[in-house]
Amino acid sequence: MAEEALQEVKKIAVLGGTGKEGKGLAYRWAKAGYEVTIGSRALEKAEQAAAELNEKLGQQQVNAMVNPDAAAWCDLAVLTVPYSAQMSMLESVKAHLTGKILINVTVPLVPPKVAKVQMPAAGSAAQEAQNYLGEQTSVVAAFQNISYERLLNDEEVDCDVLVCGTGKANRQVVIDLVRKAGMLGWDGGVIENAVVVEGMTSILIGLNKQFEGKAAGIKITGIND
Ligand SMILES: NC(=O)c1ccc[n+]([C@@H]2O[C@H](COP(=O)([O-])OP(=O)(O)OC[C@H]3O[C@@H](n4cnc5c(N)ncnc54)[C@H](OP(=O)(O)O)[C@@H]3O)[C@@H](O)[C@H]2O)c1
Repeated sequence: MAEEALQEVKKIAVLGGTGKEGKGLAYRWAKAGYEVTIGSRALEKAEQAAAELNEKLGQQQVNAMVNPDAAAWCDLAVLTVPYSAQMSMLESVKAHLTGKILINVTVPLVPPKVAKVQMPAAGSAAQEAQNYLGEQTSVVAAFQNISYERLLNDEEVDCDVLVCGTGKANRQVVIDLVRKAGMLGWDGGVIENAVVVEGMTSILIGLNKQFEGKAAGIKITGIND
């Protein structure tokens, strides 16, 4: 695996960033000063999302590209597409992710029963991505338990983020990015553990349904600061 983490991440590409979760993360990182590019299958759609964020930010901090160009441009990529689109998306960007970290936010939901945990044969969406991308790219799972409702605003996010993935140093890079996005990240260990965070999302969706909420999340307690 690409165990050596990037020394410094400056340019972040959010692949599928025109959607709800990706746009929220892009906003948070752009606000923190990163150069962010929204990736889409359609350039015009990316441009529209970027313009929306730049207006909200009051400055030109967010760029727009088609997904393969965004993957080639970035230091680190973030994948925010529905699970059904994960593999086709990865096929289109694989060549551009060599030597980079891919943060995978994808949850392997199987509609219509999205409140039921239904993991893929590989164990998790993150493991499936890692298996496909190979050792040139390090996949790190994060943000699956953060609802988009909490991201596209300036309020404090009262939820934690478990970070599971390939390489401790890579997980630390992602934990730093979690902090920059205004949340607390925890090292959840190896990529095999991503099954827990991805599966947790279905439980949170179930709780939202049960209590008519929108943004159930998790918090780690019992650890001294
Ligand atoms: N929404 C949440 O609160 C939330 C929370 C935690 C985790 N997640 C996970 O994060 C991921 C994204 O969620 P979301 O709600 O942001 O999804 P979304 O809005 O439904 O879709 C995100 C983007 O994916 C792209 N896309 C859709 N089908 C595609 C395909 N066949 N090939 C390539 N790209 C495709 C689209 O971009 P273009 O049309 O511009 O290409 C779309 O804007 C999902 O796996 C979800 O489970 C979501």
